[in-house]
Order: sequence, then structure tokens, then C-alpha cells
Amino acid sequence: MISPLLPTYARVNMAFERGEGAVAYTSDGEAYLDFGAGIAVNSLGHAHPHLVEALTEQAQKIWHTSNLYQIPAGQQLAERLTGASFADTVFFTNSGAEAMECMIKMARKYHYARGDKDRYRIITFEGAFHGRTLATIAAGGQEKYLEGFGPKVEGFDQVPFADHDAVKAVIGDQTAAILIEPVQGEGGIRPVPAKCLRGLRELADEHGILLLFDEIQCGMGRTGKLFAHEWAGIAPDIMAVAKAIGGGFPLGACLATSEAAQGMTAGTHGSTYGGNPLAMACGNAVLDVMLEDGFLEAVRDKALLLQQKLARLKDEHPKIIEDVRGSGLMIGIKCRIANTELLQACLKQKLLTIAAGDNVVRLLPPLIVNSEQIDDAISRIDKACQSLSSDATENAASG
Ligand SMILES: Cc1ncc(COP(=O)(O)O)c(C=O)c1O
Repeated sequence: MISPLLPTYARVNMAFERGEGAVAYTSDGEAYLDFGAGIAVNSLGHAHPHLVEALTEQAQKIWHTSNLYQIPAGQQLAERLTGASFADTVFFTNSGAEAMECMIKMARKYHYARGDKDRYRIITFEGAFHGRTLATIAAGGQEKYLEGFGPKVEGFDQVPFADHDAVKAVIGDQTAAILIEPVQGEGGIRPVPAKCLRGLRELADEHGILLLFDEIQCGMGRTGKLFAHEWAGIAPDIMAVAKAIGGGFPLGACLATSEAAQGMTAGTHGSTYGGNPLAMACGNAVLDVMLEDGFLEAVRDKALLLQQKLARLKDEHPKIIEDVRGSGLMIGIKCRIANTELLQACLKQKLLTIAAGDNVVRLLPPLIVNSEQIDDAISRIDKACQSLSSDATENAASG
């Protein structure tokens, strides 16, 4: 018998009832320090007063009108996002995968609109994750997500992670774009070196193809800049964001230059819910906080603190922690033991973390986390590592 909820997730047997800042409470009142933030979604933590106010205020006015009419808050959010980025225009979606679909369609349509109808192929990288729709599983190229779902959507050429020469070799007459996450998330928190991002920008310009960034996980303040690519001093032609932009309300966006968006005329794309008044109220409220003076600087300071303390933990637990890597408050602990063991040990210490590829445990605290909570998390990870070390010693002794 199948469960009423389609069993596509291996869920932990616990549920959270409420949250406050970086802390989430289970239905039986246990407090957990939340360093997963709903997989980088709860950027301002749980129940942030400004978000709660914006959502409840909007909920009493109007929830949904469709995109048949003007949505002034969407116009405003688009203006603010373009004002704060490389982009000239924005399409709002309800999720990351939909923002990706818009980006992929836009890149293909760009070449089509310019009369280059055969340019539709997109170069992607091993270890990438771009979503679970048919096109985005093809873009991600991971067999475990493709298996059994019929023919892989055509038009994606995958090369090894951050391999410039491989990209060069694969660019051909049909190449439309290069697509990359500036920091791979699901793949195991692998930052793409700034030099490499700059090299991809040069290659794209040289060949008249587009550069697409998936900043769904690494964007919106996570790395200490509003967008992760800002660290490299270059910009993409199109970018997908989601997760943190809604602070927990389902919202994604595809941002583009006017040049790259030239094929997307009336009727070429749409979404019933995309950019609805509730989502726009949340998106604007998130930006109110993130664009406040000093917010991103504080993220950078806290990130430095967390990274320094984790580096010390790595030295203290060399049998458990192989490496600590990442950017800003997007950190991966590469494990010498199974990552799920460390994750479980952290859970026992009432610290929420998230597993990722390459045997990594991800730390993605809300951007409003404070230094006491960082100290607290470090002490819990330390205890988790100690418990694992003593388990290993006991096992060795009894073996
Ligand atoms: C980098 C990246 N791209 C795309 C997605 C897909 O986003 P969504 O699950 O909102 O469709 C994710 C989700 O984890 C992601 O991390």
C-alpha cells in the first residue's frame, strides 16, 4: 500500500510546528538550531516580524489576480531587482526549476530571434543540480534523477566541473549558452573559482553565446554579496534565483539583460501564479531587509566567524572532517566518515544540517543568525564529532 503522500522523500520522523529566527520547535516543544534553513530558503529565519507583517497585511487585501492585470508590487520588485543587479528585466516564477525553465527557453529563443535557429545546445557541468523538471534533470545530467523518465531532453552537453578546456572543446555551431552554478549546492558546496567564472564570461563573449548562472541556492545574500557572481566581478546574461528571495514563500525569478531577453515577446512564456500579490509582498519584504545598510556586511562577518571556527574543528577532528569549504554562509563539511553519520550526530545535538553530494554536510544557517548561535552550533558539531570519535574507538576496541 502506498502512503497518501507520494513517497518520493526519505523524511526524518519529526515535524516542526513553529520557529523563531534561527530556532525551530517540534510539536513536542523541542528546540532545534536550524542550520539548514529549509535548504537555503528561510533567509531571514523563521517568523521574521517584517515578513509576517507584509504577508498578513497583503493576505487581508488581495491574494491573486492572475497576470491578466497589472500587479504593482511585482513591477516594484522587478525595478528593485534590476536596480540591484546586472539585469534589465525579470520574470517571476513559483520555484527554482521554473526559473531555470524560463532561463533555458530564453537562451534558446535569443538565438532564434536573431535568426540562428540551430543554436539551442547548452553546456553544463558535472555535479550540477538545476531542478526536477524534464529539462532541468537533463541539464543536471545526473543518472539517478534521469532514470526511468523516458528520453532525456535533448540539447545539453556536460563537461567536468570547472574545466575550461573541456568547455572550449565542446563549443560548436549549435551551442547557445554555458550554464553554471557559481557555487554548486547539491553537488557538495563547490565554489567555482572566480578566475574560472571570468574565463567562461570571456569564452561566451568570444563565441557570441550566452552565460547563464543558476543562483537559486547561492544567490540572494547567501555568500555575503546579493549575488554570488559579484565576487568574480563579472555578470551573466541571464540568471535564475529562487529559495531565499521569498524567505519561505514560494518565489523564483529569472533575471536577464534586455539583449538576452529579446526573444521573449508577449505570449512566449507565462505562469498562472508567477509573481502573484502574496509572493510579491514577501519578495519586497525580503529585499527591504537584505538591502538595508550593513546587512550583507554582517553576513560576511558572521561567515568569517563560522568558517574560522569550523577550520579549528577540522584540526581537532581530522578523522571525521576532511575539509571545510564554501562561500559566505554556504558551507560544506566534507566528511571522512559517511556524511549521514555526522548529520545524524548533529541531529542528536539538536542541530539541523543538510546532506549534499561528495560526502558533504551542508551548513546553510539563516542570514540573520547571530554570533552566539554560531558559537552554539560549533559546540554542537564538536560534541557530534566527539560522539562519533568515541563510537569509532569503542568499535575498534570491541572489534
Ligand atoms: C542550484 C539549484 N537549482 C535549482 C534548484 C531547483 O529549485 P526548486 O526545487 O525550487 O525547483 C535547486 C533546488 O535545490 C538548486 O539548489
